[in-house]
Amino acid sequence: TAGTEIDLALFGALGDLAQRKLFPALFHLEREGLLDPATRLLGLARQELDADAFRARIEKALRTYVKAEELERSVLKRFLARLDFLTLDFTQPEGYAAIREWRQDAGRPMVVYLSVAARIYGDICRHLEAGGCLDDECRVVVEKPIGYDLASSAEINDAIGAVFPESRIYRIDHYLGKETVQNLIALRFANPLFGTQWNQNHISHVEITVAEQVGIEGRWGYFDDAGQLRDMVQNHLLQLVCLIAMDPPANLDADAIRDEKVKVLKALKPFTDDMLGRDVVRGQYTAGTIDGRSVPGYLEEEGANTESHTESFVAMKTGVANWRWAGVPFYLRTGKRMPEKLSQIVIHFRQQPHYIFDPDQRDLAANKLVIRLQPEEGIALEVLTKDSGLDKGMRLRRGPLHLDFNSAFPKTRIPDAYERLLLEVMKGQQYLFVRRDEVEHAWQWCDNLIAAWQDRDEPPRRYPAGSWGPVASIAMITQDGRSWYEDY
Ligand code: BG6
Repeated sequence: TAGTEIDLALFGALGDLAQRKLFPALFHLEREGLLDPATRLLGLARQELDADAFRARIEKALRTYVKAEELERSVLKRFLARLDFLTLDFTQPEGYAAIREWRQDAGRPMVVYLSVAARIYGDICRHLEAGGCLDDECRVVVEKPIGYDLASSAEINDAIGAVFPESRIYRIDHYLGKETVQNLIALRFANPLFGTQWNQNHISHVEITVAEQVGIEGRWGYFDDAGQLRDMVQNHLLQLVCLIAMDPPANLDADAIRDEKVKVLKALKPFTDDMLGRDVVRGQYTAGTIDGRSVPGYLEEEGANTESHTESFVAMKTGVANWRWAGVPFYLRTGKRMPEKLSQIVIHFRQQPHYIFDPDQRDLAANKLVIRLQPEEGIALEVLTKDSGLDKGMRLRRGPLHLDFNSAFPKTRIPDAYERLLLEVMKGQQYLFVRRDEVEHAWQWCDNLIAAWQDRDEPPRRYPAGSWGPVASIAMITQDGRSWYEDY
């Protein structure tokens, strides 16, 4: 089934994100027959290039980022034929008339995708409007980071909002496009087994780990201003918290879901000064080894300011202060240069009220629901059964009821987050995009924490690259008699 007919104008078409993610995602939509035959794709960048040279660049990117067996020649040909290119200085109004000409009153909605620095979002929107490129159906897609704090994000949102109404602004958080993240909605709201247990009566605590192996990858300037809290927690981790913690929406409409997410963000516990030393750990990696390869420390990366106190790791114990979650800690941790790439959520259920088995095994006796985002997307429910063997008596054994998406549904390819998100924009559906008030409440919470850090002015704790973060992040959870979940 072909998707909706649109014109897509992609600002920053030669940038890293476009080449690595956006064009490959569009190509996959082509392969799946989800691009309408009439849909056209316009690349925009400052570089002087003609359309043929642009198509050659995109073909090269596809050869790098799409598996060879998926690059069928006929599909590639059809895809490249949709592409066009315009050289444009985004900050100057003059060139924008060319976009209007390219549109030729096409009679189909235009999607403007801004894969550029957020500080010029406002300029681009204004010039598009002044250049007569927009009509009442145009949508705009913007990438994170939207600002650096609440004030700067409000300024950027104002600038976009002066041209586009909220109903046509699509703020990307690519975690919302990940298959397993969407599965949280299905899991929670389609399965009575979980729906009835999803509260403080039955859940003791929640754990979210988003570990990355990569370091700064040549982005020192950006990253050092941001740090892991702004880069990962403000958006991706808080979005996961929202999807885990929100109340059931009345339906699947974008605003029904987003209203519930905002309530969670408003109920996030703020950090008070006495919690800082105990419940939050900031870390920075030193040189170490990952997969047997030596890697430099954060302060030895290319272009580094050797005095930097920016965190590349953060662990925290927080919570959602409302009826459903009162007293349930949410332990979050995320860092660069950790031993493996692993994103997972673990829901720890409470123990039975009365325990009748071997007293030594008491710690085992709680179910855990492990939701694995990457790699190897899947869901496992850890249950207790009787250990087999005549000599084992009523010894308990932990084991997973396991749903590994790749083996359970071997023929289904798990699409990249951007494929899903681009398709939703084309269809004009906003439920996987972040509304302005979500971004701003998330900033407000992070700003408070950052201000408290700044008052304290303590250097981050060190952890060797290839480790699970500073020792203090382990102590943070063991002080509550718990530990970070490990596969067994
Ligand atoms: C981005 C961050 O938003 O997410 C990066 O800016 C990070 O620093 C990336 O590496 C992680 O995304 P994923 O999909 O690889 O988990």
